Amino acid sequence: MAQFDSVNPARPSDVVGTFAATGAAEVDAAVTAAAEAQRRWAQVPVPARAEVVARAGEVLRRRKAELAELVARECGKILLEAGGDVQEAVDMASFVAGQGRSAWGETVPSELGSKLCWTTRQPVGVVGMITPWNFPVAIPSWKCFPALLAGNGIVLKPSEHAPVCAEEFVAACREAGVPDGLIQLVHGFAEPGAALATHPGVGAVSFTGSVPTGRKVAAAAMETGPRLVSLELGGKNAMVVRPDADLDLVVDGALFGAFGTAGQRCTSTSRLIVHPDVAGELVDRIVKRALDLRLGDPTRPSTDVGPVINRASAERIQSMVEHALTEGASVACGGRVRLDVEGCDGGAFYEPTVLVGVDRAHRIAREEVFGPVLAVMEVADLDDAIDVVNSVEYGLSSCIYARDINTALYAVDRIDAGIVYVNAPTIGAEIPLPFGGTKHTGNGFREAGARGIEQFSQLKTVYVDYSGRLQRAQIDTPGVS
Ligand code: UN1
Repeated sequence: MAQFDSVNPARPSDVVGTFAATGAAEVDAAVTAAAEAQRRWAQVPVPARAEVVARAGEVLRRRKAELAELVARECGKILLEAGGDVQEAVDMASFVAGQGRSAWGETVPSELGSKLCWTTRQPVGVVGMITPWNFPVAIPSWKCFPALLAGNGIVLKPSEHAPVCAEEFVAACREAGVPDGLIQLVHGFAEPGAALATHPGVGAVSFTGSVPTGRKVAAAAMETGPRLVSLELGGKNAMVVRPDADLDLVVDGALFGAFGTAGQRCTSTSRLIVHPDVAGELVDRIVKRALDLRLGDPTRPSTDVGPVINRASAERIQSMVEHALTEGASVACGGRVRLDVEGCDGGAFYEPTVLVGVDRAHRIAREEVFGPVLAVMEVADLDDAIDVVNSVEYGLSSCIYARDINTALYAVDRIDAGIVYVNAPTIGAEIPLPFGGTKHTGNGFREAGARGIEQFSQLKTVYVDYSGRLQRAQIDTPGVS
């Protein structure tokens, strides 16, 4: 079996873990083992499953500082944000645990007498999960906790850049009492992912990652399906700034939204659609602050921006920026790969970058960069600004900064995205609300929130007739002739 290393993106000579890349045979064994454990887990009452999830949250909370260090080391997120990543999993555990004692279906009055109608949720069996590296604890938790609550077994294939974080997450689940075998981990590249997506024993596939891979996973899963497939894909998230906006707030929001996590969130702010009256001042202020951001080792508290995940990613970002320049944009700050950051031998960084003079037709205005690059477009008319927001193939997150509430809510109504913020940046989603997007960002499912469980359960509709005689719906209904 081929081996691969997960390395510290800030110092690739620091190997965080070495794993065997699993093949289709190991995936098959993992699905079989998870299915066996799942049959017993499905018999455990839902509130008791919820207790286990709650305990997993407690373990993660207790280990938060240590896990944040690991997230920073393995994925390059700065410590503060790495702590947020772990906290998101803690929050998810507490939310999902509460769902274990909440409504589990609906009851509806029957049109016939002496008859009950309700819905309940059934596990799907084994869920195959494919997760990215940018939220290496949070995203596995978004998927695993609701799937466990719903009574499923799990085969998790984390990103090859975050296998150690996934191992630690699963270890926390096991310490909390998740039964042996119920969560299986498979590591590696495309092969285990493809094997998982097409395995006949996998009842649902949940994928977070890029659009091209998501399409492949979904197509493969359906070819051998049909089965439930939930996709959480890219974003090209826009910040609309109106002339009455509080610019102090906008500057803080743009910095955090565009350069937080080195721009490597699905929700990162990558377009600034600003009114020309305030564009000059705003760009100057953002640039001034961006130039002060300290690139460095993400495990050091003084670092503002960590590395990007690897050299290839830095080069990809660079080529997108260069292409933007050929299309007519110009660099207001940044625009360079940095391989010389102190204490980070071999680490690839990308300077926080602001591009001005971007047109809505430019590639940089339409394609996901997944790096710290903010493309500025000047648009005066509000409807036109909203058209620009909506002109891309993605629809994950968005925001508008305006003091006038009518303007803000007008935009909220018209922006085509799964998440809209007012006077806050495009990142920072909270667990009790649904997370996901429109258009090519996903296929309609939402993670987190009360509906998060839908991708991991099947509804069953139950009718109980206790009248003791045949009652025909739509025929014997009182009042219907
Ligand atoms: C992601 O980028 O894939 O809203 C998830 C946010 C985080 C989650 C982002 N709570 O930015």
